[in-house]
Amino acid sequence: MTLIDSLRAEAVAAPESGIVAVVNYGRTREGMIPLWAGEGDLPTPAFISEAAARGLANGETFYTWQKGIPELRQALSRYYARHFGKTFAEEEFIATGSGMHAIQLALAAVAGSGDEVVYLSPAWPNFAAAAGVSGAVPVAVTLDQSGNGWSCDVDKIAAAVTPRTKALFVNTPSNPTGWTADRETLQAILNLAREKGLWIIADEIYALFHYGHGRAPSFLDIAKPEDRILFVNSFSKNWAMTGWRVGWIKTHPELQQVFENLIQYSTSGVAQFMQRGAVAALDHGDAFIVEQVERARAARDLVCDILGATGKARFTVPQGAFYLFFTVDGITDSRRAAFDIVDKANVGLAPGTAFGPGGEAFLRLCFHRRLDQLEEAAHRLARWMKTV
Ligand SMILES: Cc1ncc(COP(=O)(O)O)c(C=O)c1O
Repeated sequence: MTLIDSLRAEAVAAPESGIVAVVNYGRTREGMIPLWAGEGDLPTPAFISEAAARGLANGETFYTWQKGIPELRQALSRYYARHFGKTFAEEEFIATGSGMHAIQLALAAVAGSGDEVVYLSPAWPNFAAAAGVSGAVPVAVTLDQSGNGWSCDVDKIAAAVTPRTKALFVNTPSNPTGWTADRETLQAILNLAREKGLWIIADEIYALFHYGHGRAPSFLDIAKPEDRILFVNSFSKNWAMTGWRVGWIKTHPELQQVFENLIQYSTSGVAQFMQRGAVAALDHGDAFIVEQVERARAARDLVCDILGATGKARFTVPQGAFYLFFTVDGITDSRRAAFDIVDKANVGLAPGTAFGPGGEAFLRLCFHRRLDQLEEAAHRLARWMKTV
């Protein structure tokens, strides 16, 4: 018996990230333009880092509130009032060690061994993988793509629900497709969850990265306080804080103690000085978010124009998030293509195979980057397309 055989089967079965395999292959190439990861190229704004540095200098190096310092939970309450027009008590927020950690806690709260959780695919792979590690069974329902773009057939979700289903995971705007649920779709999903007594884990971390009018539609627009919805969220994208590993859950005041306990028995809380940075982000970061979204919109349009002109790239212009998910005529094996693009175009893309059912033929390009580099990358890709 090898060591690995004596581990939990669910841990051993956790898949290696299909994105990291390509990153490791290409990361040291001279002149590489890396568009594979889910982050932008802007550093965290100084006013956020300085607030954290002040906390550190002031000696905030001790254990702190497991659920998050009151100032952070109050700042979250103000953020929701400004962006979602809703009044929530600070008791409804729990600080987490990243969006990923928020997802883990939401899973821990609602789905145990053998329970099923339904999610929409193609999808950022971490939710399904984390569900698998916890012993739950992730069940993919594929989004549909037509000339009108990506869409979600709620009847397909209903058909995937079984007596073992405990939760629906809904990521809108979506990484990687950019699909953004309209209010009617959200209402239909909520109706289904109400009817079947299911939890919704709502991942709306890209809600403000929306290229329509204002933010993306949210379950918050239609939910009632008694609805079973856990909102998982993150500081990573809105405020260029991917490396900080800070996020939050918006839950129901009744559930605060449960989540505080789950924090206690996982990370035992987020470092206090980092929470000071998070408070600064929430209270003073709105202009930075607008700046980032406008920059990403210009980047999206530029990349879509150049790749669209090739006549070989097929895509739906994303309505939200900051990824272009596209196919190339003649390419069916996106993993092989991503390695080939590293070799021949010196551009880093994520292969669609990493995003589960329905993603196999696609490539994901993160366009949250300087325009001159994106322009160069798109031209390199256009030249590569001529060779396939
Ligand atoms: C849809 C989605 N949810 C959650 C996360 C997690 O963010 P983080 O763990 O960096 O806070 C990401 C990151 O890429 C994401 O794309």
